Amino acid sequence: MRILSIETSCDETAVSIVEATGGLENPIFSVLGNALFSQIDIHKEFGGVFPMIAKREHAKKLPTLLKKTLVEADMHTLYDISYSVKKWKEIKTILVREENLYEGLKNVLENIQKPDIDVISVTSGPGLAPALWVGISFATALGKLWGIPVVPVNHMEGHICSVLLNRTDKIINPNNQFPKKQNKIQFPAIALLISGGHTELVEVKNWGEYKILGETRDDAVGEAFDKVARMLGLPYPGGPEISKLAQRAREENLLHTAKFPRPMIHSNDFDFSFAGLKTSVLYYLRETFGREEPTLEQKTDIAREFEDAVVDVLVYKTKKTLEDVNAKTLIIAGGVIANKKLREVFGKFETEYTNLEVKIPTHSMTGDNALMIACASYINILLYPELLSKPQNIIANGNLRLS
Ligand code: KG4
Ligand code: ZN
Repeated sequence: MRILSIETSCDETAVSIVEATGGLENPIFSVLGNALFSQIDIHKEFGGVFPMIAKREHAKKLPTLLKKTLVEADMHTLYDISYSVKKWKEIKTILVREENLYEGLKNVLENIQKPDIDVISVTSGPGLAPALWVGISFATALGKLWGIPVVPVNHMEGHICSVLLNRTDKIINPNNQFPKKQNKIQFPAIALLISGGHTELVEVKNWGEYKILGETRDDAVGEAFDKVARMLGLPYPGGPEISKLAQRAREENLLHTAKFPRPMIHSNDFDFSFAGLKTSVLYYLRETFGREEPTLEQKTDIAREFEDAVVDVLVYKTKKTLEDVNAKTLIIAGGVIANKKLREVFGKFETEYTNLEVKIPTHSMTGDNALMIACASYINILLYPELLSKPQNIIANGNLRLS
């Protein structure tokens, strides 16, 4: 099955074309084309993501990313006749709310043959509603133009499925099949999903059967990294910046003065709270330095202690769920698992727990991308084949949940 997938839930605009085979028992994906544009440099100026700016940038970039993906997949074939005027009118109506997207799409596809694609998949939530809508409208327009079904994908299910793409090299090489070995997930699995918008512990009973066991009651873990980084005068996104400083503090064995709490670590549930930890950093900065800026060495100390607090809580709660569910697989996904310390600590779980397989996506698959959306849609189509035959009325749901 050939899938064209689109991801626009936050600040990454991404399009990919993937060939999926193997069924639920052994899903194998071959990347035919893949293009991604990160808006980080645009949002850096504001210290965070602004939904309306994200929406505008998605609309600006989607047509060129689609063209790049089609070219890479060898599906950018010229056609001497264009689609009918009536068809373009329908497309214009679908894209009426997306600034310049109709013109951009027409420009790119006017004389291009319908590609050899079976289905289009698009993120419908969770995420920033205006950003999600651009992707949905774009996917719907393409589906109409080419007469191909369009299916919605839950972004968090996409992150779970990112572990099915466990290659070690960069994701941009076309025609690269991966993985080589059996790609079967043993259930029940626990998924720890950690990103800028989410912190969730999910029981995966089987493909498509999810139960959220615990989640953050306030800030997401990535959000806490970003806010603490901001307090320390570090650029957005803060996760990688904090991580670099923390690593330096450990490697150089720098002074260890700061002390922060491990919120909710012993609570009798699987929930998290990171807002209090962030506030502790704020109070520590005020009480210790007043209006002065901490030195670089003092910042490295704060970064290390903050990161240690986060790691301790995530590890403790994950262990608690693994034992409760008697899980055979631990999946850890989302942007925050790019963090070196977390990768190290969770990487050791396989030796600590016999009969547990730990699945962590390769670094390049941790952040938002369209490949993981293609993977999740393949799984969903296998589970619910009617997705292809019944036209879907896809709507953006910023708060879409896994259960
Ligand atoms: O999954 P993602 O790309 O986007 C969302 O769906 O939110 O996650 C982005 C988050 C940001 O908060 C960013 O600071 C965090 O992931 N992040 C990290 C690291 N790299 C990215 N957090 C900690 N350590 C990192 N190395
Ligand atoms: Zn994400």
